[in-house]
Amino acid sequence: MCGITGYTGKSDAVARLLSGLRALEYRGYDSAGVAVMDAQGAVHVVKTKGRLRALEERLEKCPVHGRCGIGHTRWATHGAPSDVNAHPHGTDRLYVVHNGIIENDRELRAELSARGYNFLSETDTEAAACTIDSAYAETGDPVAALCAAAKRLRGSYALGVIFLDHPNEIYAVREGNPLIVAEGGDGCMIASDIPAVLRFARDCYVMEDGEIACVREDGAEFFDCQGKPISKRAAAIEWNMEAAERGGFAHFMLKEIHEEPLVARQTLGRYVKDGLPDLRGAFDNGCERLTIVACGTAMHAGLVGKWLIERIARVPVEVCIASEFRYNEPVLSPNHCVIAISQSGETADTLAAVRLAKSLGVRTVGVVNVPGSSVAREVDQALITCAGPEISVASTKAYAVQLLMMYLTAVQLGLGRGTLSMERARQIVSGLMALPAAMEEVIREDAQIRRMAACLDETENCFFIGRGLDYPGAMEGSLKLKEITYIHSEAYAAGELKHGAISLITRGMPVVALSTQAALKEKMLSNMREVASRGARVLLLATPETKELASDADETFVLPATDELLTPATAAVAMQLLAYYAAVRRGCDVDKPRNLAKSVTVE
Ligand code: G6P
Repeated sequence: MCGITGYTGKSDAVARLLSGLRALEYRGYDSAGVAVMDAQGAVHVVKTKGRLRALEERLEKCPVHGRCGIGHTRWATHGAPSDVNAHPHGTDRLYVVHNGIIENDRELRAELSARGYNFLSETDTEAAACTIDSAYAETGDPVAALCAAAKRLRGSYALGVIFLDHPNEIYAVREGNPLIVAEGGDGCMIASDIPAVLRFARDCYVMEDGEIACVREDGAEFFDCQGKPISKRAAAIEWNMEAAERGGFAHFMLKEIHEEPLVARQTLGRYVKDGLPDLRGAFDNGCERLTIVACGTAMHAGLVGKWLIERIARVPVEVCIASEFRYNEPVLSPNHCVIAISQSGETADTLAAVRLAKSLGVRTVGVVNVPGSSVAREVDQALITCAGPEISVASTKAYAVQLLMMYLTAVQLGLGRGTLSMERARQIVSGLMALPAAMEEVIREDAQIRRMAACLDETENCFFIGRGLDYPGAMEGSLKLKEITYIHSEAYAAGELKHGAISLITRGMPVVALSTQAALKEKMLSNMREVASRGARVLLLATPETKELASDADETFVLPATDELLTPATAAVAMQLLAYYAAVRRGCDVDKPRNLAKSVTVE
């Protein structure tokens, strides 16, 4: 949800900013811009609607040079994508890039307009820029101005600011949106996320809410919200550069799907010891009820988790869409545990849910992919997954490892509560250890999935159906398809379709049927026949145990043999590839689907 970066140092700022923005483009990509201070202290702003490429072209035509600057890639919230709404925004004293939402921007605009400020754009950011400007006019000190402005701004923000009369310095402040500061060999950077600084530094400072940074070529100083200096320790960056590059694949999404076996091995390597889960004591205190809070794909991992944990450990689990959780007055008891699942660890709603749970005195555990992210830092215990940087907006490898954590949680709780025998626990974990090879097999067999994808060429509507464990899997398959192909897709519990939605089935409409649970295959067969007899084209995902259903399907993909409990992990790979190939065939921008952003840091 908008990416911000900044650089000050010995090198060319534009090159540094563009490299940072390229790595942050997953956060938003409807416009981009930079403000660069030249050797004489003049600031040049170049910004444009469109992708980063459009900004690069503009900069090629009108180059600007300097060693200090800020940059932005936008996901519009206030004001449509346009040249004028693109960041940076500024006044004659300063320029600002912003990630987040200023909720009281109307009030601030009215007040500032009355005091003579003219607004050029429709953005809330300009209200922030003018608020800082007005505080700076009074104090003459950037840190004091940011402290004063922070008291006026409501909402969430990470801001990068350059002041014209403080050459070669970048100021940054955060409240509710991520921001890191990195010191490299030839200068310092600020950024919304680690991939932007991977080429540049091996460790970084993670800013906390209310903190202010002053970044110079030779290092950074930090202040609290009263302007008092504070000392911070840098944290090592665990990710490597290759993980954040496309490495010969046509798209990040395809690369990330291909990485699933590797990251699954790494995650299992971290959390399996001697053939059993080792979740670092996360659930040792015993918990009688669980609530999983998450958004999007992570929420679907939670739904699979619910099924597994209830089945294996007999612990009741509620899965809450994080944006609903806080406004629903959740019923939590002292023996409750809240698990937050999040790839980025920065999703505003998930973070708010964690904070609410903590304020109610409930233990919180985070299944998070980004070490040092807000959720990872704020939960009582973070279980860091090992997917590495996920760049494609549609989540794939992060989901795979979230699923693994759900299995390990279910087994750990089942053992702790005596609902699972040691023998079965070892069997499930050994099945998990074999999953990466099964994922590889799905990826190897993708020619068949491509054939299935061709069945989605003409359609505008699609259903995914499944029963039992296949139902949450179907929800994720459906989400993946709609995210990147724009096909309207719905997931249904297969038995529920006939209670209304079957009226939407028309001749030729694809229905992806998941049938991986042998005990439910006859029921699934009936549901497949119900839709087929109304003209649907059935695309079946089966297992060696259920493949006989293929005679009632138009296309079939047989998943490798695994423990039946583990099929959501292999089926997910197949459905991700299905969505991917369908999107490529339809000419969609796979890694940057319209209207979406990867890290949703606004409510
Ligand atoms: C956005 C992304 C999804 C992701 C969701 C939750 O909607 O496009 O891919 O699943 O946010 O993100 P998180 O980082 O919390 O897992």
